[in-house]
Amino acid sequence: MIILSLETSCDETGAAVVEKKDNEQFVRVLSNVTATSSSLHAKTGGIIPEFAAREQIKAIIPVIVRALLNSEGINNEAIKQLNNSKQFERANEILKKSIDAIAVTSGPGLIGSLLVGVETAKTLSFAFDKPIIPVHHLLAHLFANFILNTEYSILNTGKMFPFIGLIVSGGHTDLLLFESASKFKWLGGTRDDAAGEALDKVGRILGLSYPAGPEIERRANNQQPTAKFHSPLINTEDFDFSFSGLKTEISRFIVKKHLTERLINEVCHALQEAIFAVLIKKTIRAAKLYKINNILLGGGVSANQTLRQQFELTAKSQLPTAKISAPAKTYATDNAAMIGAYALLNYKPVDWHKITALPDLYFD
Ligand code: KG4
Ligand code: ZN
Repeated sequence: MIILSLETSCDETGAAVVEKKDNEQFVRVLSNVTATSSSLHAKTGGIIPEFAAREQIKAIIPVIVRALLNSEGINNEAIKQLNNSKQFERANEILKKSIDAIAVTSGPGLIGSLLVGVETAKTLSFAFDKPIIPVHHLLAHLFANFILNTEYSILNTGKMFPFIGLIVSGGHTDLLLFESASKFKWLGGTRDDAAGEALDKVGRILGLSYPAGPEIERRANNQQPTAKFHSPLINTEDFDFSFSGLKTEISRFIVKKHLTERLINEVCHALQEAIFAVLIKKTIRAAKLYKINNILLGGGVSANQTLRQQFELTAKSQLPTAKISAPAKTYATDNAAMIGAYALLNYKPVDWHKITALPDLYFD
């Protein structure tokens, strides 16, 4: 089966063409195109929803056309040689002939942004008479681990379920136990800021541009541990997290200090340590408690190499049977391939007129 998938929950506009063969457990990406308006938001230090949606309205059709053409091996150089009507004609043919269904992020996310993807997907489904699958953005982050060629892949373990899933994105931090693609239990989550949000907000205090996660990772790698901050819920028995206090602690730590490069790097290092320690401790504890060996990470923060390495190290000493899996970097941050991957592994089409954008979608 081949799916065209769309993702527009935040500031990215993504379209992908993904495939799963009946006898395979994994998903192949035939094309994956992502346009981002993050440079616009870098100036404002955070996303302005109206700006993000306006950019998505402009980007969605060109991104879909490119994803369709790329999926048939027509590269971007070759696309440039075609005029608009030729591009549309080819995309139209590919959609008609090769695409079996359309998947789209239905939530959670920014309402204006979600609507761009959802309404476009509904229109394509109606016009081309293709089934449509609404996809939960957060669950899709975990299912990015089932895309072929991931670096630390669950696919190497040969067994997909059960697994403990840790979602660490810009807006969410959640721990779940999955028994199958559609059967899962929510174990806990953040009570305030998400892990990525804490990185981005402290980044803003330090004068880094948005989103701050990648720069914090780079700076932290250049610094020996000196300062130390704490995540409040680290020693509780539940699976909840709290990261909002870190902003205050760090604001106090740097107040009246001259923000040198060294001090910024030091704060970045200590911030990562504080966030990662609690994420790792609680995830490993959940795996031990529920006697589960597969741990899957997903979401933008899971692109962080230090987080992946620290997970591996802790698992080695505390739960040697554990296998840690994280998506390839391209599929860790928001992308449409993961939306298609989840739709292929949990194929549940819905009548197109029943699909709507669900900004507050959570875990039922
Ligand atoms: O999953 P994502 O792309 O979007 C949401 O669904 O929110 O996650 C974005 C978050 C941002 O907070 C960004 O700072 C963080 O992921 N991020 C990282 C890295 N790359 C992106 N955090 C730490 N290290 C990274 N390398
Ligand atoms: Zn996301």
